[in-house]
Amino acid sequence: MPRKNKNQQDNDKKLKGEITHDGDVQMANKKNSCQEVKSKIESMVESAVESKVENIIIEEKLISKDTENEAATSMAAQSEQQVKYENMNVKELQEICRKNGIKGFWKKRKNELIDMIENILNTDKNISTKNECIKYVDLFCGLGAFHTAFNRNNLCQNKINYECVMACDIDDGVRKIYEENYGLYPEGDINTINIDNMPDFDLLCAGFPCQPFSIAGNQKGFEDKTRGNLFYKILEIIDKKQPNKLILENVKNLHTIHDGQTFQIMKNELVKRGYNVSYKVIDSKYYNSPQSRQRIYIICDKVKSYIFAETKNHIVPVSTIIDKTIDIFFDYKAKYNLEECSGNSMMKYKLINKHTGKGGRQGERVYDISKYGPTICASSGGPGAKTGLYYIDGKIRTLTIKETLKMFGFPENYKYDSLSNKNKMLFYLGNSIVVNVVEELIKSL
Ligand SMILES: C[S@@+](CC[C@H](N)C(=O)[O-])C[C@H]1O[C@@H](n2cnc3c(N)ncnc32)[C@H](O)[C@@H]1O
Repeated sequence: MPRKNKNQQDNDKKLKGEITHDGDVQMANKKNSCQEVKSKIESMVESAVESKVENIIIEEKLISKDTENEAATSMAAQSEQQVKYENMNVKELQEICRKNGIKGFWKKRKNELIDMIENILNTDKNISTKNECIKYVDLFCGLGAFHTAFNRNNLCQNKINYECVMACDIDDGVRKIYEENYGLYPEGDINTINIDNMPDFDLLCAGFPCQPFSIAGNQKGFEDKTRGNLFYKILEIIDKKQPNKLILENVKNLHTIHDGQTFQIMKNELVKRGYNVSYKVIDSKYYNSPQSRQRIYIICDKVKSYIFAETKNHIVPVSTIIDKTIDIFFDYKAKYNLEECSGNSMMKYKLINKHTGKGGRQGERVYDISKYGPTICASSGGPGAKTGLYYIDGKIRTLTIKETLKMFGFPENYKYDSLSNKNKMLFYLGNSIVVNVVEELIKSL
């Protein structure tokens, strides 16, 4: 190529804006530097979009730490109280997406963001890889209170990703529902599981069957050959898989039946295996649930003793989960009179049978929705079977499935399409753990 002369070279430099002593060139320079700044900004925005805004937003402080903290706080509150995403603004929803590696949230509308977040609430598929992954098994999984709590925890913090590697439940209906919600089909009867084929895991969760220990059951404890002995199956799994931590849940009665001997045996077995055993009877009504449900939580750790936090949140009344659009009520008048309950009782009325003059048994109690509600019970009967009766705007009815799901802290979009007899759902719920409690406990695992 022929070499350019001095003039040609200067012209080239002017065009590129490399000569600064000429006014025109200075203008060109300004334009060029404006363009440079503009294109820098554009490329920043582009890369922010490409990298899902996450690092750039934080490094350039486009969102202040305060906003981050506020978003984190509101996320925690959201999971605790199942506050609807509808109440959040776009920035907060984007924050949830960013923190959880949900892809493609940039420029999405509020409704689209809510859909994206709700989709991962109950499935693990899209949750990003975090610094640490803790694998857990969900034994006797039921409707998956543990699983929902861990998924929410994954959403609320950036450090640990809890991953469910196996679940099991003997009930066919429950297994299908579990798959619908969490994308994982549980194994069946725990007794048929070949422990050698189980995946490795760090944390074992088990809300093992409570009937042999419950006041409502036969209290046979370990003598209940089928259900009481399931604790020994758990021990067998522990022996082979050596998880670092365990969370066990059962009825509050567990530590008092047979003068505490059954519980003592359990504790000894766990201590023998090298665990620090901590336990506490917890009432879900202090954990942002409108249901009073007292259960014992046993948390075992090979390294440290778990410390249960003193949690006594304000009571959340049943009215918070009542769907005012429901207009099917219980016509009690033909058979019952109402007898008012005095004092501080959570009951407003008792149903008294006009014929026998008797009443007020479980299933004949009408609760005040401005207070907390009773324990939802899989086996209770009567007109208020399972959920109890509630006095709503001068009328009386039981709770719907959706309302009962909320009593347990399950999300708005919890699915049970696979269940042909929808009433069975209340039975499953009566056996469930309250999500809010687990959610709180796992924060300090
Ligand atoms: C108290 S519930 C568990 C609640 C559950 N962990 C939750 O989060 O809601 C006990 C569960 O154990 C299941 N179950 C009973 N016997 C079983 C067995 N032999 N193998 C597996 N699951 C069993 C029941 O079907 C029931 O869902």
